[in-house]
Amino acid sequence: MLAIEVQNLTKTYLSHKRAPGVKGAIVSLFKREKHEVEAVRDVSFTVEEGELVGFLGPNGAGKTTTLKMLSGIIFPTHGKATVLGHVPWERKQAMQRQIALVMGQKMQLWWDLPAYESYLLLKALYEVPDDLFEKRLHSLAEMLGIEKLLNTQVRRLSLGERMKCELLAALIHSPRVLFLDEPTLGLDLVSQKRIREFLKEYNEREKTTILLTSHYMQDVRALAQRVLIIDHGQVIFDDTLRALSDRFSASKLLKLRFDELPDRNSLERYGQVMSYEGLEVSLEVPREQVSRVAADVLNRFSVADITIDEVDVEEVIRDIFAGNTAQPIAAAASETP
Ligand SMILES: Nc1ncnc2c1ncn2[C@@H]1O[C@H](COP(=O)(O)OP(=O)(O)OP(=O)(O)O)[C@@H](O)[C@H]1O
Ligand SMILES: [Mg+2]
Repeated sequence: MLAIEVQNLTKTYLSHKRAPGVKGAIVSLFKREKHEVEAVRDVSFTVEEGELVGFLGPNGAGKTTTLKMLSGIIFPTHGKATVLGHVPWERKQAMQRQIALVMGQKMQLWWDLPAYESYLLLKALYEVPDDLFEKRLHSLAEMLGIEKLLNTQVRRLSLGERMKCELLAALIHSPRVLFLDEPTLGLDLVSQKRIREFLKEYNEREKTTILLTSHYMQDVRALAQRVLIIDHGQVIFDDTLRALSDRFSASKLLKLRFDELPDRNSLERYGQVMSYEGLEVSLEVPREQVSRVAADVLNRFSVADITIDEVDVEEVIRDIFAGNTAQPIAAAASETP
């Protein structure tokens, strides 16, 4: 069954342009220039119940905006979406009770209270029965390793501890769909790992549908079987991580160590120079040309060492995040059914 269905979802923000400085502020009191930002453009995808999908893209790509629409915080400009059969922005209680949104930069726990007090509040809000509440609280706290922290004032907790408490808060009412916006942002490596392991285990155990954004490659690698990549408000890739690297193995990486470094231009005719440092160069070369290029380079220059590697999927994603969406992705995306 489909948990999430999104069709041509679009969000255009209207913001007001303002010239800088005091003068700009005064002018804008009288004459405000409207400025449209197309945050999400014509996005369509579906997510099966129980799936854990990585939602990736560079800064400003439209990820948070999409999650906000899907959790009913903001209205779309046009397009359709359903989450568990409900239109999210109608904010029906029946849907609210079955979803949760966790944002890395935004806390829902009360700062001055121990987390446990906030959980009691959520218990009342979502009408979670006593026995179920206790059971879930204990099992989640144990999975997250935070049993000892529940009675500490939230403000006294470390960032990583707080995020674990936030996750517990989001899950106490057993949502069937979980939206996670950068849940590991800024956390130390140990906490990141713990949260990753928790999410994986939780998804497997409870079959909760999870849509997760993250800037950390480890999150993506460890968690998502499937990735949705959005760039400039549009979905440019929707398939498994495996497929992403397979598509990219249309080219290979030729790593060369020279006795004497040739100039960059003379190498660029063979392929894309990915790095050029010391005596080492890596060249991205179309797969079918690899052996010809290797032979030619060996012939022409004095080469100390040569290896041929697959292009790393992490690098592919990092490239997308850096905003230099490589051509093959766009081409591959258009082939996606
Ligand atoms: N309330 C708003 N008013 C105007 N523009 C906005 C608003 N919120 C977001 N935007 C713009 O919409 C675009 C998409 O923003 P969004 O926050 O969805 O990106 P994102 O993919 O979550 O980025 P990041 O990885 O940095 O979190 C950006 O250009 C952003 O500046
Ligand atoms: Mg965001």
